[in-house]
Amino acid sequence: MIFWRVKPLDQILENAERKSLKRQLGPVQLTLLGIGAIIGTGIFVLTAEAAQKAGPAMMVAFVIAAVVCALAALAYAELAAMVPVSGSAYTYTYAVLGEALAWTVGWALVLEYAVAAGAVAVGWSGYINGLMANAGFGLPAFLRTGPYDGGGFNLMACIISLVITALLVIGTSKSAWVNAFLVAIKIAALILFCIIAVPAANLDNFQPFTPTGWGTPMGGIGVLGAAASIFFAYVGFDAVSTASEETRNPNRNIPIGLIASLAVCTVFYMLVGYGAVGAAGAQPIYDAAGKLIEAGSPDLAAACVNSTQLVCSKEPLAHVLHSLGSPKVAYFVGAAASLALPSVILMMIYGQTRIFFVMSRDGLLPEAFSKVHPTFHTPHVITIITGIGVSLFAALFPVGILADISNSGTLFAFIMVAIGVMILRRTQPGRARPFRTPLVWVVCPLAVAGCLLLFVNLSQKALTVFFVWAAIGGVVYSLYGFGRSQLAKSNLAAAAAAKAGGSA
Ligand code: ALA
Repeated sequence: MIFWRVKPLDQILENAERKSLKRQLGPVQLTLLGIGAIIGTGIFVLTAEAAQKAGPAMMVAFVIAAVVCALAALAYAELAAMVPVSGSAYTYTYAVLGEALAWTVGWALVLEYAVAAGAVAVGWSGYINGLMANAGFGLPAFLRTGPYDGGGFNLMACIISLVITALLVIGTSKSAWVNAFLVAIKIAALILFCIIAVPAANLDNFQPFTPTGWGTPMGGIGVLGAAASIFFAYVGFDAVSTASEETRNPNRNIPIGLIASLAVCTVFYMLVGYGAVGAAGAQPIYDAAGKLIEAGSPDLAAACVNSTQLVCSKEPLAHVLHSLGSPKVAYFVGAAASLALPSVILMMIYGQTRIFFVMSRDGLLPEAFSKVHPTFHTPHVITIITGIGVSLFAALFPVGILADISNSGTLFAFIMVAIGVMILRRTQPGRARPFRTPLVWVVCPLAVAGCLLLFVNLSQKALTVFFVWAAIGGVVYSLYGFGRSQLAKSNLAAAAAAKAGGSA
C-alpha cells in the first residue's frame, strides 16, 4: 500500500527541468543560507523557555537536540544529493514511500517552515520591542504580544513577516546577499556574548542541575521536553536542500551546505548555553504549591511580572549581559538580533514557498501556486499567500507554542527521510549516490529513534495540533490532490497507451 503511486526518481529529475528556477547558488552561499536559517529564535529567545523546562540541564538538552539533528542531517544529505531538486523531504518521500505519504510530509512541512517563520518573527519582536522601549518609543502592551501572551496583536512580528515576503518576491539573489550580511552580524553577536559570558560562568549556577528530571511523554518538561523544544534552534539546515534547483553542482554543494552550517551552529550553541546558565543561573519558576509552571503559559507570564530571572526574559542573551554589567554589549546583541533574526524568517518563508511550488507542479495544490513572475523569476503567488499566513500566526500566537508545533512537523519529516534512505539503499542499491550516509544501518535507525524520542516529548498541545493538522491534510488530499495528481494522470495515460498498443 505504501508503495502505491510512487514517483520514479528519474521522472522527478525530468519534471524539475520542465519548469525550472535559475541555478545561481554556490557552496558558500548555501552554507550561509543554512546558518541564516539555523541561528535565530532558538538560541536568542528559546533558551529562556528551555531553562523553565529543564533548569541548568538545558545544556544537556542542547546536546541531545544536536545529536538528533546531526543524525538526521546525514540522512538528509544522502537524499538531497541523490535528488537535487526542490521540495526536500516531500520530494524524497514521493520517490520512496509514495504520493499519499509524500503529501502528509509536505503538509507537515507547512508546520516546519511557515509556523517556524511565525515563531521567529515573534522572537524577533521581543528584541525589537525591548529596543524600542529603551529608546523611549515603545508600543503599547496590547500591540507587543499576541492574545495568548498577555497582549492582543503582535504588530512588529506581523510587519516583519510582510517585509520579508516582499524581499522574497523581488528575488532570491538579492535576498541571499542580504542574508549573508545578516549572518555576519548574528555570528558577531554570539561571539561577543561568549567572550563576556563564558569566563563569567559560576559553577554554583549549575546546581541543582536537573531540577525537573528527564520528563514524561507528552509532558513537554524535563531535559527531554527541553530538548524537544530547543530542537527548534537547529531546524533550518534542511532549508538548504530546498534550494537544490537554484544551486550550481547540487550533488556536491548541497551536502557541504547542510553539514557545514549545522557544525558551525552546534559549536556556537554549546558555548552560548554554557555561558548563559553559568553567568546568570537558569532555575525554573514554581507556583505557590511548588508545582512547575508551564513554559509559555499565561500563568508563567503572570509569575514573571517584575521578575529578573532568566526564564522570564523575552530577550535572554541581552538579559544575561545586563546582569553581568555590560549594558553596551547587551544593547549591541539586542540590536544584532533585531537586525539578523529576519534572515531566519526569510529562509523559512523561502523554504515553504519552494515546497508549495513543487507540490503545485505535481498537481497536488492549485497550479497558480507554481506561477513564476516574468521579471523577478520567483514564485510570487505562493510567496505572497505564505507571507500573509505567516504574518497572521506571528501576530496571534506565542513563540514557544509556535516553535513546538513547528518541531512536530519537522521531526515527522526527518523520520520519513531517514526511513526513505534505508528503503532506497535496498530497492535501488546501484543508483549513483554522490554523498553516502556513513554507517547507514546505524545512523538512520538512530535518527528515527532520536526524532521519535523528541516527538513524544513535545507538549500535548503541540502534538494535538500536529494530528489535527494531519487530519485536515488527509481531507484536502482526498478532495483535491488525489484526483488532480500529475503522476496519476501520467500513469493513466501510460496505461491507456499500453492498452491501445496491446489491442492494435
Ligand atoms: N533554527 C531557527 C531558529 O532558531 C529556526 O530560529
